[in-house]
Parts: sequence; structure tokens; C-alpha cells
Amino acid sequence: MTTNARDGFTNKFGVIAAAAGSAVGLGNIWRFPYVTGENGGGAFLLVYLLFILLIGLPVMLSELLIGRRAQKNVFGAFKALAPDKPIFMSVGIMGVAAAFMILAFYAVVAGWTMEYTYLAIIDGLSGMNSTELSVFFQEFQTSKIGPLVWVGIFMFLTAAIVIGGVKNGIEKYTKILMPLLLVIIIILSIKSVSLEGAQAGLAFLFKPDFSKLSGEVILEALGQAFFSLSIGMGVIATYGSYIQKKENLMLTAVSVSFADSLIAVLAGVAIFPAVFAFGIDPSSGPGLVFETLPNVFNSMQGGYIFSVAFFVLLVIAALTSSVSLLEVVVAYFVEELKMTRKKATVIAAVSISVLGVFCVLSDDAFKFFDWTSSNLLLPLGGILIAVFVGWILGRQNMKDELTAHGGKAYFSGLLLIILKFIAPIAISAVFLHGLGLL
Ligand code: PHE
Repeated sequence: MTTNARDGFTNKFGVIAAAAGSAVGLGNIWRFPYVTGENGGGAFLLVYLLFILLIGLPVMLSELLIGRRAQKNVFGAFKALAPDKPIFMSVGIMGVAAAFMILAFYAVVAGWTMEYTYLAIIDGLSGMNSTELSVFFQEFQTSKIGPLVWVGIFMFLTAAIVIGGVKNGIEKYTKILMPLLLVIIIILSIKSVSLEGAQAGLAFLFKPDFSKLSGEVILEALGQAFFSLSIGMGVIATYGSYIQKKENLMLTAVSVSFADSLIAVLAGVAIFPAVFAFGIDPSSGPGLVFETLPNVFNSMQGGYIFSVAFFVLLVIAALTSSVSLLEVVVAYFVEELKMTRKKATVIAAVSISVLGVFCVLSDDAFKFFDWTSSNLLLPLGGILIAVFVGWILGRQNMKDELTAHGGKAYFSGLLLIILKFIAPIAISAVFLHGLGLL
């Protein structure tokens, strides 16, 4: 890809696959289960799904239409669409900051996934019982050297794909592999549900206990919705700028949100029954998936093949997300700071790897980046994006963009109400309440 010609996606499935590739990743399979486990299960899931529908979907649609209307990276988009309102450019700046933070810890977890892929291939975890597997993960995670090397390898791969450009890089991989990941997760869920003692896990996930809800828990659910959908920071807007006018944005947003939520819930079904069946603590934190799933593989026929396939696909799912994160930074460097694509990618990838080192060395740095990006930066970006489309872009522009493919704009009245009032107020309220200020 040259510095000024914007390449695009080739067809509808390419767009949806790429956006879904960004959305579906460690957020669904690693972060969703561990955050759900820490926040009490069923009630959290319910609030999370409500936020996806009420806030996530409208914000995703807004991002798509901002990007496509402006044909620019997220920072440039707001500059072009509202040159006299610099406040909205902060979405671009916060977005680039969020991309740095998210990718820093994302690369660490992706690194764990790569280690587990390697272990799956050499069959290094079979025969261990549940306690041994937990101890193994903790020892690996605190060993530092292994995790550090993987961060470097993962960032190198991400950068290599980003340098390749959109069509050759992102789209080609996501189209085939995401559906395959879905199939594997469905098989894992079936196995997990049939384990002895699985019932308690299903009850944990699907029987809401509303006494578990607090301001903090609700804010976590909101942050998880934003993180999982890749919204609030310009990733989806950047992809929107690559989408052709003939594509239906509403259909894209609905399909991506649906696929993303489905995979998160299925990941929950694959993990929680096993958590309870193997006596693992659901609130054991970021290691939950890595301590749980190997038990399932060990207990199933063909576990070797499934474990290899699962971890390989998870690495790829992580890559299609990390590529989208790096793309935000690179598009910004290229279009605003006039760097070449290659130089921009190298500078971004190296500096993010350095932040990744901090996340490996310090749990506090890891948690800080994780919490601040999901629960603070993304929701704040979401408020500005909703307000921008609702109040500044306005009804007519919104409708034009929604009907550019030649079809109708369904629910545009409701959408406008959500973007103008409901989303900004709800996000602000959850936010202030979660921080104990309301
Ligand atoms: N949504 C991605 C995931 O679920 C992570 C991500 C967040 C990607 C924000 C881009 C932007 O893994």
C-alpha cells in the first residue's frame, strides 16, 4: 500500500470478516470469561449483553459511518468533518493512546497463547491434573523470560501483516479462519457441558444473581462491551474508511456485534462448566482460560488435535485484532505525521513492545493498562462518537450514509435518540457511578 492511495476491501464478506476479525479475539475468549468470573457471572453477562445492544451496536454503527464519510484515519476524520470543533479530535488522540495501551497487554496475553500453542504441539500439558496445570501457568507467567520473548515475536508478526496493507494482509486471513474458530469453540462447549459437575458452571453463567451487581461491576460490563467490540477508539472508524459505498453499514454492525457476542457467550459455555467441574476458582483472574481449558483437552478424545487447533486459531484471532489496533496508530502516523507506512509501523511496533515489557514485568502495569483503556478511554471515546453523530453530523448526513448502498435506513429515528441522549447519558452515569462519584 502506498502512502496516499487508500486500498479497500473487496466485497461484503471481506468487510464483515475484517471487522469481525478485529472484534473477535482475546477479548472474547480470554478477557470475557475472566472478567465475568471476577464479577459474579450471570448478572454481569446480562448487563454486558444489554450494553452491547443499547450502546455498543449504535456506537459501532456511528464509527463505521464516520470513517466511511470522511475516508480518513480517525484523527483526520474528525478534523475533516468538524474542523471547528477540536474537542472531537480528542477521540483520535485518545484512540491512539488506547491502541498503545491495549496492544501492550494484548501482546502479553497473545504471547501466553503462543506458548500454549507450542505446548499443545509438543503435547506438553497432557497428563497434568488441574492443580498442576494452575501451578504450571503461574510459574510460566512469573518466569518473565518466556513471556518476554513471545511479546517480541507477536509484535513482529503483527507489524509484518500491517506492512503488507489491508487487502493482502488482514482480509485474506480472517475470511476462512474465523468461522473455523467458531466451530472449534462449539465442539469445546459441548464437551465442557457434558463434564460431570458442569451444571454449576452453567448456573453461574446463566442464573443472574443481582446482588452481585455494583457500580464497579456495571462499569466493568460496559468496558468489556467496548473492548470486545473494538469500539470507542477509532479501529472500526478506520475500517469504515475502507468500506465501499455500496455496502450496508447497518448490516455490517449488526452482524459483527452478533458474531462477537455469540463467540463470547460460547467461550463462557466452554469455560465455566469446566471451571466448576475441575474445582477452579472462577475469579482467579487473567490466567483463568489457560488454567481451565487444558483440563478439557486432557479429558476429551482427540484432545491433542483440538488443543492444537484451538490455540493456533486463538493466536490468529489475536493477530487479526492486534493488526487492527496497530493499524489505528499506523494510519495516524502515515496520514497526519506523513511517515511512510513502513517507518510508521516499525516505530509503533517497537514502542508498543517496550510497553509490553512493562506489562510482563509488573502486574500493576498490566492491570493499569487493561483497566484504563477499557473502562476509561473507550467509554469516553464512545460518548464523543455518539454525540458527534447524533448532534454534529445530524440526521440527514447519518441517513445519507446509512442508505448509500441504495437501501433503506431502518430504525434511524430510534438510532438518533440513542445517539443523542441515551448512550451519552448512560455511559456518563455508569462511568461516574463506577468511579463512586454518583
Ligand atoms: N476486540 C478485540 C478483542 O476482543 C480487542 C480490541 C479492542 C481490538 C479494541 C481493537 C480495539 O480481542
